[in-house]
Parts: sequence; structure tokens; C-alpha cells
Amino acid sequence: MGHDRRDQLTEAAQAIREAKEVVILTGAGVSAESGIPTFRDAMEGLWSRYRPEELATPEAFRRDPALVWRWYDMRRRGVVACRPNPAHEAVAHFLRERSSATLVTQNVDGLHQRALAGAWGVASGDVAELPESVRVRILTLHGDILAVRCVACDYLRPDQDPVAAESDHVLPRCPQCDQLLRPAVVWFGEMLDGPTLEAAFEAAARADICVVAGTSAVVHPAASIPEMTLRSGGRLVEVNPARTPLSGKAYWRVTGSAGEVLPTLLATG
Ligand code: APR
Repeated sequence: MGHDRRDQLTEAAQAIREAKEVVILTGAGVSAESGIPTFRDAMEGLWSRYRPEELATPEAFRRDPALVWRWYDMRRRGVVACRPNPAHEAVAHFLRERSSATLVTQNVDGLHQRALAGAWGVASGDVAELPESVRVRILTLHGDILAVRCVACDYLRPDQDPVAAESDHVLPRCPQCDQLLRPAVVWFGEMLDGPTLEAAFEAAARADICVVAGTSAVVHPAASIPEMTLRSGGRLVEVNPARTPLSGKAYWRVTGSAGEVLPTLLATG
């Protein structure tokens, strides 16, 4: 750890301890150390020839639902096999200790939620069992990869089973209306859930400090959330091994991995 970085980390950690309200915005980088590949770092093997923008869209699903399902099936298997890492644990501990802290995540892997359920001792691992006062501080912007919903009606259910997707004929269908089921995530070109997004902007506007960890900060509206903290006079801390469009606006930058940095940055003791 270089001298500058340690200074930034110590100073930012101190400011976080003194802040009244903190919002934490996370992206795929916080799950990297759990073994889940990020989107914009090279995708692996077979999938390296596709960009997420070509697979995670309603058009892609209409054109070739089996292809899109194969990609999601591969990612869902990865998520099921992974566990939260020290970054998720640090965030969960912080939310438990600081009742005014809010987590806003772009991740669909549920690892924050598993760590949060663990921090509150919920044996089932289901955040739905957390008190309402906690659930309102966990804002999931892009949905849940371990749930499926119908393309046509309001059917939605948790689902982590492997999905057969060799051809369109074997794809999972809605038990209510027989249309195709799809992953319950937000695709490019789709609207985010209005109340969730609004709550995220409100939390960011109230926050003295916004911690931005493991996101390339190129996908909006998520990437605009830290701007709200800046606009209302707050400061940003960025945790990322690489620079992003937000780096120049960050008051503190900690160059490093989320699993290594967040336990120190968010230490409450
Ligand atoms: N710790 C912290 N950051 C890391 C780590 C790590 N161990 N490893 C990689 N990163 C950083 C990368 O430098 C990059 O800036 O994490 C970021 C990952 O960026 P993306 O892959 O673009 O992920 P994200 O920002 O979450 O993407 C936003 O795009 O495809 C959509 O809906 C999807 O929610 C996703 C959104």
C-alpha cells in the first residue's frame, strides 16, 4: 500500500466516522473477489465476443431468447456457487452499526443481501425477513438474477435452478399465461423501479459522503446518484483499482480492491 493511498484511506475513513449520513453505491467490482466477473473487464471464453449491451436488452431477448438465457444461466450458476467477500461483509456491518446509512447497489447477484441477512442473523439468508427500517436502506437498482418474471404478465418468483436453454422450445414459461419467463433484472433501455430510484437519489442528496465502490460509473441513471451528493454539498470517496468518469470529482480516491479497502474504510470502531 503506497503512502498516498494510505493517507487517503485514513482520512476518508475518519470523515466517514464523523459523517451524519453516508450512502454507499456499489457495482460489479465489489463482487469480483467473490469470483463473479465484472461486465466491462473482459468477459470470459465463449462470451468474450458479446458485449453486455448486446445481450442484456429486450431486443436481444426477442431476437434470440435461448442465447440470452444461456448467458444468464451461466451467470446464475456462478452466482449460486459464490459467497459474499469482505467487501460485502464490511458494507453489511456498516449498515448494522449506522442506522442512517443507505446501500444502493447495481449488482443483481444478491451477495450484499446475503451478507446483510448474515449480519442480522437471519438464518434463511432472506432479506425479506429483515425489519422494514433496514429494508428501506437497501436499494437494489437493477433487479435480481436469481428471480424470474414473465415478459407479459405480473408473474414473478425467486428461482435459482439451472435453466435449459438449448433451444427456444425448452425455455421456461409462465405458469399463468404461458409466455416466456425472463431474468428479473433491468436491461439496457428499460426503466428502473421508480420508487427505488427516487429513494436512492434522496439518500444521496441527504448524504454528507457518498462512497462509490467497484463501478465503472458509465451506466445511468445509477452513475448520476453520486452527483446528487456533490450538488448538495457532500463529498465522494471512490474505491476502485482503475479510474472512472467520477474519479476527478472524488474528494478521496482509494486505489485498490473493494475487499481490501472497504473493511478499513467502513470500520465503525
Ligand atoms: N474492487 C473494486 N473495484 C473493482 C474490482 C475490485 N476487486 N475489480 C474491478 N473493479 C472495478 C473496475 O475497475 C470497474 O471500474 O469495478 C468496475 C466494474 O465495472 P463494470 O463491469 O462496468 O460494472 P458496473 O459499473 O457495476 O456496471 C454497471 O452495467 O451491464 C450493466 O446492469 C449492469 O449493473 C451493471 C451496470
